[in-house]
Amino acid sequence: MRSETPVAVQLKDYQAPDYFIERTVLDFDLYDDHSTVTAELTVLRNSDKGSDLPPLVLDGQELELLSVSIDGQELPSSAYQVSDNHLTLQPQTKRFVLRTQVRIHPESNTALEGLYRSGKMFCTQCEAEGFRKITYYLDRPDVMSAFTTTVRADKQRFPVLLSNGNPVAQGEEGARHWATWEDPFKKPAYLFALVAGDLWCVEDSFTTMSQREVALRIYVEPENLGKVQHAMDSLKKSMKWDEEVYGREYDLDIFMIVAVSDFNMGAMENKGLNIFNSSCVLASPETATDAAHQRVEAVVAHEYFHNWSGNRVTCRDWFQLSLKEGFTVFRDAEFSADMNSRTVKRIEDVVFLRTNQFAEDAGPMAHPIRPDSYIEISNFYTLTVYEKGSEVVRMLRTLLGADGFRKGSDLYFERHDGQAVTCDDFIKAMEDANGADLSQFKRWYSQAGTPRLAVSSYYDKASAEYTLTFQQSCPATPGQSEKLPFVIPVQMALLSADGEHLPLQLKGEDSAQGCERVLAVSEAEQSFTFVGIEAEPLPSLLRSFSAPVKMSVEYSREQLLALMQHDSDGFNRWEAAQQLQLAILNGLIAAVQAGKTLKSDPQLAEVFAGLLADSSLDQAMLAEMLSLPSEALLAELAEVADVEAIHQAREFLRKALAQALYAPMWQRYQALRAQSREQAYAADAEQIARRSLQGKLLAYLMLTEKTEVKAACVEQFEQAHNMTERLNALACLVNSSFAAEKAQALAQFAEHFKDDALVMDQWFSVQAGSVCPGTLNQVKALMQHPAFSFKNPNKIRALIGGFCAQNPIHFHAADGEGYRFLADQVIALNALNPQIASRLLTPLTRWRKYAPARQAQMRAELERIRASGGLSKDVFEVVSKSLAD
Ligand code: TRP
Ligand code: ZN
Repeated sequence: MRSETPVAVQLKDYQAPDYFIERTVLDFDLYDDHSTVTAELTVLRNSDKGSDLPPLVLDGQELELLSVSIDGQELPSSAYQVSDNHLTLQPQTKRFVLRTQVRIHPESNTALEGLYRSGKMFCTQCEAEGFRKITYYLDRPDVMSAFTTTVRADKQRFPVLLSNGNPVAQGEEGARHWATWEDPFKKPAYLFALVAGDLWCVEDSFTTMSQREVALRIYVEPENLGKVQHAMDSLKKSMKWDEEVYGREYDLDIFMIVAVSDFNMGAMENKGLNIFNSSCVLASPETATDAAHQRVEAVVAHEYFHNWSGNRVTCRDWFQLSLKEGFTVFRDAEFSADMNSRTVKRIEDVVFLRTNQFAEDAGPMAHPIRPDSYIEISNFYTLTVYEKGSEVVRMLRTLLGADGFRKGSDLYFERHDGQAVTCDDFIKAMEDANGADLSQFKRWYSQAGTPRLAVSSYYDKASAEYTLTFQQSCPATPGQSEKLPFVIPVQMALLSADGEHLPLQLKGEDSAQGCERVLAVSEAEQSFTFVGIEAEPLPSLLRSFSAPVKMSVEYSREQLLALMQHDSDGFNRWEAAQQLQLAILNGLIAAVQAGKTLKSDPQLAEVFAGLLADSSLDQAMLAEMLSLPSEALLAELAEVADVEAIHQAREFLRKALAQALYAPMWQRYQALRAQSREQAYAADAEQIARRSLQGKLLAYLMLTEKTEVKAACVEQFEQAHNMTERLNALACLVNSSFAAEKAQALAQFAEHFKDDALVMDQWFSVQAGSVCPGTLNQVKALMQHPAFSFKNPNKIRALIGGFCAQNPIHFHAADGEGYRFLADQVIALNALNPQIASRLLTPLTRWRKYAPARQAQMRAELERIRASGGLSKDVFEVVSKSLAD
């Protein structure tokens, strides 16, 4: 906690380090009431910066310095200065060994950054700037060092002692023992990791493309050994995929994953020793939903892929975070697309981007994927850096083609292996490998905000010419009032009246070049004229969502229906259905606001009936097409988000659809449920699709409150052999008015799963998301439940986050109680875990989206947090930026 106003760090102030650290030898002595860390650093003057010897300023926080020596000579305390954040001393030679010894307190570390206890084990989280809480160091990613680490602890209670690299020695000393690990690859301190605990592992192996054997180990607490296989399978698939698709081979003899219960984010790519939130490792049919299985697969892949995109080639400074994160998210998304349904994966990612990243881009924390300033870097592990960053890499591939992109990534990895580099270096490799000029494209790295792309068309029958005109603009974001045009790749096709995809020849070209192409829109207004178009076509634009923009095209309902039927791009078939639903929902929202009685529109029910009757349609696609835009997405799309009108309109439409389509939905549901009963669970694409559709149908059917549906829901809840069906049924009951069944199901579930923390997280979040009255009081009561803990981020996210971020109608209750509740939690958490406190705040930062009364209430709570005193940098930055004009 601090008293002075924190200052922002600026990209433009970047300076190469004055000193490097060639070798780092660490020794950890772990005890219950303290730990000591001895560090021997071989420090070297950065000769690029001159031959003088400026002071050496090491980072360090919350460290108790016990001793300092240089080249074996203990320094008197007059020879160095210690402040809250630094240890400063004056080198006498350009190369020397600095030895420090510090005492730290992992046992009372609730921020979960640096070295901390999670349950009975010790573990670390160093990204971005946590290593400075372990020892004095040059804690910046452009200082890369070879590490040797010795860990000492009680033999009985900490039989497993791990660090990065390969194990090289071990021994015993009475009741204690030690192990030494050596990591031959130079790395920044943020990739350092250590684990000590009573862990068991599942072991496997992988033969790399050059026939090397790699030992694979996933460490968990013994009770979780039965939930590791899915993660292990995912790891092996990831290793193979990275060899096949990117030519990247693993480099150490051993790769380890450790699951921990208390973790601020999903997982961390520490070299050779990934540390995971247990929610991203553990999965079994009985305890984890399909979504959780897919998340495990994606996160295991993500962290593994970082071994090249992040570790072998790392970031020069934290402004370059998207260099590794955007690229790695793109890599894991493509992996998941290859392992499962490509179209469904794309739909899910685009829905997530539109709902959450577009909102971030429109709010007070908006920043480019390469920010140019920050107060607390932890606040910049954002949807923009990750998700939009991934979209930017995807656009590069779309523009360069798959082969050109691969050439670029090969050059990038080869040229920069072992280096700490910038986003410019990444682009330069893409340019050099392809002879391309990406200078304008680079605006995606420096300009924030979601571009708008308005499309109009003109058809000239006489000349058989069809012209598409694009106009792009980008709203102002904090610190950026004017924007220059982006390069926007618009993947497109033209459909004839009978659904044929027409050959595409631009005016000036000799011949048509296929039936799909990419138009690179690079000007504020730009037209493209196609020739040889015999009748007015129907354009299919931004196929597969080829750019992260808000496109507006005036389609008639008939045109949307035609696209839904004929577009060969699966994403755009779904998109047409979305646009139709949005048009209908917007009409209903306006009707609610005008105080009119709502009338159901028969068209959507007809469309859904057609979809349900179409046996050729993939079930996963059907489930996606039947999903109405969420309340959160409707709020993001609105000029002023009217939470109640959105909720009422959407609930009205859902009920109307359920009533109109009762017979086909009920029939289909029963058939799907029967299939489920007969088949053993597998988390494969086909079964996931089936359960996804079954879940959507059950949710619709339950809105009719029919007794036969209620009975089916209870049957599914009680008899399902997997968590996906069980939790879907539970969610339906929780959101229903069947009070007795709801209470019984909740009690039964809690009794059965009370010892499984991850399942109890789901139990908390289902209740936090309930639309029924009294949810906030229920959430407050659940904070007293024995399975809840204010110190465990997963619990906070499930219960408090579940309510504040996933339950708009109750969070935005007119009495302001939701806002007050969130502010209270943020104030309490600020002292315990600043990263989690700051993330939890997100919904309050969006206050400008709402009508004046709610704006005032939300602002007042932000001001109350600001005035509460002792704010962490994390919370301070978000609150002050949210309140800035
Ligand atoms: N680099 C990690 C990833 O993307 C995430 C990460 C960054 C993280 N900072 C963290 C994880 C802090 C836990 C805590 O995979
Ligand atoms: Zn990552």
